[in-house]
Amino acid sequence: MKREQWSSNFGFLMAAAGSAVGLGNLWKFPYVVGMNGGGIFLIIYIVLLVLLGAPILMAEMSIGRHTRLNAIGACQQLNKNWGFVGFAGIFGAFIILCYYGVIGGWVMKYLFTYIFTPGINKPDEYFQNFSSSAAEPILWQLLFCAVSIIIVIRGISNGIEKISKIFLPLLAAFIIIIAINSVSLPGASEGVKFFLIPDTSHINSFKDIFSIILNAMGQVFFSLSLGMGTLITYGSYLSRDSSIQKNAFYIPLFDLIIAVLACFAILPAVFAFGLEPSGGSGLIFRTLPYVFGSMKFGRICAVIFFALVFFAAVTSSISLVEVIASYFIDSRKWSRPKACIIPGIVFAGVGITASLSFGLLSNVKIMGESIFDFLTILSDKILMPIGGFFMCILTGYIWGMPEMFREMSSGGKYKIYFRKTISFLIKFLAPAMILIIFITSFI
Ligand code: TRP
Repeated sequence: MKREQWSSNFGFLMAAAGSAVGLGNLWKFPYVVGMNGGGIFLIIYIVLLVLLGAPILMAEMSIGRHTRLNAIGACQQLNKNWGFVGFAGIFGAFIILCYYGVIGGWVMKYLFTYIFTPGINKPDEYFQNFSSSAAEPILWQLLFCAVSIIIVIRGISNGIEKISKIFLPLLAAFIIIIAINSVSLPGASEGVKFFLIPDTSHINSFKDIFSIILNAMGQVFFSLSLGMGTLITYGSYLSRDSSIQKNAFYIPLFDLIIAVLACFAILPAVFAFGLEPSGGSGLIFRTLPYVFGSMKFGRICAVIFFALVFFAAVTSSISLVEVIASYFIDSRKWSRPKACIIPGIVFAGVGITASLSFGLLSNVKIMGESIFDFLTILSDKILMPIGGFFMCILTGYIWGMPEMFREMSSGGKYKIYFRKTISFLIKFLAPAMILIIFITSFI
């Protein structure tokens, strides 16, 4: 059977960017920046994006397009003992989906609140009450999971591509409007300074620095959807008429622009309304209602904005579901619906405990962390860096750089720039950096 393909490179780019741009940019980046001291984090993030993110992105896309297989199958084809890398990726995708649905559900709740009510008066209290209640967040979370699963059942170019093509450009345009509004609030300049000017005064030890670097690395992997086989899977549907290198340039660039714009929308408002930038995972939900409250046509803007965030979240979560489903379809010969629904029941089920960890189960700790935080740490700071590390070793030493470049060039059709640098990054610098950051942060 001929493998499905993206209908065009633009479609692929939009789908891959759709996977990358998601809650990671809009929900997570602003609060991680807030918790890690602002400007200094931004600089470290951009450095790691270039040195780690882009090369690993190329490696994953090349492996996928070369083998035309799912994450496990692809790694196994390169070397029969290396299936574990793909397996770790699929496991990681599961873990992410468990908590992704919780936040996706919150976004839906806010979207519907703005559609059906005039607005949110006391954002802090409102968020606190909602996130800690038992039943309602779970219902929204399950709904979010159901939407993602249904789209993936409908198939790749049919579902994923169509959605991303339309909403991504819209999202970019709309965040700019909100960012302009937020920056022009009285008192907003403190937030702009916090975000753009590196301030080292609160860094007291090496430990602080390494913790910021580890967080930045986790964020690079999470935001670009790396280390979990997503780009292997998406690359496996990519035509040889596309330039992998070009895609590996545009995807991180687009991803970064959206993340930076999200910070311009959130952080100035955080300062303007006297909130705490280190407020954690509720930051955008506590902050944005103030911004919309102060805007002309605030309610309409809120509806459009949360709808766009919802789409961004869906196009990312479908990429995670696709990683898992394509394994069961290719290797276990399951039908597409079965390969989506059975894993879906499992991650939605585990996700319920993550949702409850904001309320009913807030006392349950795994290694000192709430269930939700434990899942995020496990995926961002452990599984993804490990996945990225092995992806580099697999590509650099087992498959070999010449093979990767051959795939990237589509048999000589595209010129590859910076060959030596890319080889150096994939074979030495990226794995060494991951190892050092990883080990130092655990001792
Ligand atoms: N990158 C997405 C975001 O920013 C999340 C995501 C989708 C992801 N697929 C992934 C993260 C695969 C890691 C691996 O929201």
